[in-house]
Amino acid sequence: MLGNFTYHNPTKLYFGKDALQGLSEELPKYGKTVQLIYGGGSIKQNGVYEKVVAILKACGKTVVEDGGVMPNPTVEKLYGGIEIARSHHTDLLLAVGGGSVCDYAKAVSASVHCDEDPWKKYFLRGEEPTCPTLPVGCVLTMVGTGSEMNGGAVITNPAEKRKLGHVFGSDVMPKFTVLNPEFTYTVPMRQMVAGIYDAFNHICEQYFSGDDDNVSDDLSEALMRSIVKNSRVAVRDPKNYEARSNLMWAATWALNTLLSRGKTTDWEVHGLGQAVGAYTDATHGMTLAAVTLPYYRTLLPYGTAKFKQFALNVWNVSPEGTDAEIAERGLSALESWMKELGLTIHLRELGVREEMLEGLADATKNRSGGYKILTREEMLAIFRASL
Ligand code: NZQ
Ligand code: ZN
Repeated sequence: MLGNFTYHNPTKLYFGKDALQGLSEELPKYGKTVQLIYGGGSIKQNGVYEKVVAILKACGKTVVEDGGVMPNPTVEKLYGGIEIARSHHTDLLLAVGGGSVCDYAKAVSASVHCDEDPWKKYFLRGEEPTCPTLPVGCVLTMVGTGSEMNGGAVITNPAEKRKLGHVFGSDVMPKFTVLNPEFTYTVPMRQMVAGIYDAFNHICEQYFSGDDDNVSDDLSEALMRSIVKNSRVAVRDPKNYEARSNLMWAATWALNTLLSRGKTTDWEVHGLGQAVGAYTDATHGMTLAAVTLPYYRTLLPYGTAKFKQFALNVWNVSPEGTDAEIAERGLSALESWMKELGLTIHLRELGVREEMLEGLADATKNRSGGYKILTREEMLAIFRASL
């Protein structure tokens, strides 16, 4: 049975080959100074930077550069971004890039007018902003996180060896997002498949929790099937617009606050994966891929009915045998697809070493929404099984 909920998503989306025109429509709604946030330079190589700056200039904006946001943005970088926004009196934070850039923009938004340390306030204590926030807009260039239409922001504190997320409310969610699938054509293959797996796992995190028959699970299964089908095309033919556009749209729906309405969710793959990220700075989707199979095999006896449903409805496996056998067939199908995409499924390949495992268990956020709350021993066993 669906629980009670409120649903409100304030992000306006512009989708398609002409989506950047949406930026010209949006910019006049905001003040003169735009903090242009981007990553390590991919947008300068693929021409997106030039197109965005041309529109900013045409709209009479003063552009304040804030580049160099790294994958897995750090708290030090966040402090720098807050200073830029304060000293230039930024009116709009415009993130052009992947999830890291969008997340960073949201964290800056909630911190510019806040006297407290954002790391402590938002990421350690999980509080809501108690100060005015700055509007955020996104031009997405990489598919995966769903950050373009949600309130999530994930920040890494390398000194404390913690990578933590916070879900901000609707004030901080992007006011608008431009989604042009063609902007994703230049994403390197390894990043593309990591992003595809990230989106797929966001659905799993919301699916493997609860045993009710609800619309969210039906939507989830359809989205998962679509991601699997389109991933195979995109790997073979990265410039296939149909596949890239379907992936982009499915990834947005995978984590734009819809699927989780009225139901419980898990998020333990992310809990385990973010610990790996804190220790290794590895690509987010790969950290998830590396912990998924041992985690789900630990969970299977406690959520057999749902794993069986996943096997039958997402992977179309044979319905012969016991529930547990059918359920395991689904995880084997998932494993084959992950290998086919070229995902990293061993932690050692991400730089994890045996002596890190205790620290990884300490850094893992333990969630209670899945079919089982993991003990520390189980966490260690999962990390060890993935090494
Ligand atoms: O930095 P640049 O030079 O732009 O290169 C980036 C980066 O190296 C590159 N890239 C992006 N678009 C490109 C491109 N290269 C060529 N052509 C393009 N069009 O891809 C690399 C990865 O970018 P990044 O933004 O880090 O990837 P992603 O979108 O996967 O974001 C990862 C971050 O998002 C967080 C993760 O933890 C991680 O910190 N997440 C945010 C979530 C949310 N807000 O809800 C949920 C997720 O579960 C996730 O935790
Ligand atoms: Zn994720």
